[in-house]
Amino acid sequence: MNEKKTMLSGIQPSGELHLGTYLGPLRHWPNMIEEYDCYFFMADLHTITVRQDPAALRRRVLTQVAQYIACGLDPEKCTIFIQSHVPAHAQLGWVLDCYAMFGELSRMTQFKDKASKHKDNINAGLFTYPALMAADILLYQPDLVPVGDDQKQHVEICRDIAERFNGIYGEVFRIPEPYIAKVGARIMSLNDPSSKMSKSSPDGCLFLMEKPEDIMRKFKRAVTDSDTERCVRYAPQEKPGVSNLIQIYAAATGKSYDEIEREFDGQGYGKFKPAVGEAVVETLRPIQAETERLLADKAYLESVYRAGAEKASYTAEKTLRKVYKKLGFVAK
Ligand code: TRP
Repeated sequence: MNEKKTMLSGIQPSGELHLGTYLGPLRHWPNMIEEYDCYFFMADLHTITVRQDPAALRRRVLTQVAQYIACGLDPEKCTIFIQSHVPAHAQLGWVLDCYAMFGELSRMTQFKDKASKHKDNINAGLFTYPALMAADILLYQPDLVPVGDDQKQHVEICRDIAERFNGIYGEVFRIPEPYIAKVGARIMSLNDPSSKMSKSSPDGCLFLMEKPEDIMRKFKRAVTDSDTERCVRYAPQEKPGVSNLIQIYAAATGKSYDEIEREFDGQGYGKFKPAVGEAVVETLRPIQAETERLLADKAYLESVYRAGAEKASYTAEKTLRKVYKKLGFVAK
């Protein structure tokens, strides 16, 4: 009997992983694999709601697999897989399309957002995306789904769809809880500290594979605040730019905010910004090296995602069979 609770999370390989994802959720996942039975996947099916360059997508998915491992996810202790390798996602996704309502899908902020950004490609997949995401989750019957606030609405609609389905057919799906991590920083853009660090604004975003000199340049240019005090003090309301850098420095070095304020007492921002850059360079150096090493070892990477897909399929298909049976589909 497996006593551990189950947890599942995915990241869309629609862009390179960045520091916000790393210092936010990703860095804490290796601790979670001790406590939970974890599934981590590359949500490649989701990326095509927006047009992708096929070669770039393939490279990003493989890089993301390598980065998960390089960040400390031991493939022996958790299940790492590529979403499109487990057909049950698309299969349950279709079923849940028929249990997700037009009205509730229309209210999704991410749909409204993406539809306004890609006016020439408001495709049906973009609209029904939450049903596929619900399938991703419900197939594994997880207790918890760790997500950032931007994905909370999607976990809520997943619960609504699951409750609707269970209401008709009995207890088919476990109703998952969104898990908003207690630890884990919310990293803001380096050139606009009022918005979250995001790949859609690359100048303020620091990608995990960025070269040391580019990292240093981005930190030297990072926006600090226009207050007259010009001292390194953590005050997110008054000094969002500096506070964001303090947060990054704290996460990278393990120092407390107090220690950091003391360290740069009376020194202004000129010393502080490059120090943050260097700390980040040092934090990312081993991850970058390990990612490169893994990417060069195609056979190993392949063995990881194949074994992952096999493990994931076992669980996913069990749920899918149960769903098909409830629906009245004739068994094969
Ligand atoms: N929607 C998530 C994102 O945009 C990725 C994702 C797809 C996901 N399916 C999921 C996250 C299931 C958690 C659980 O990043």
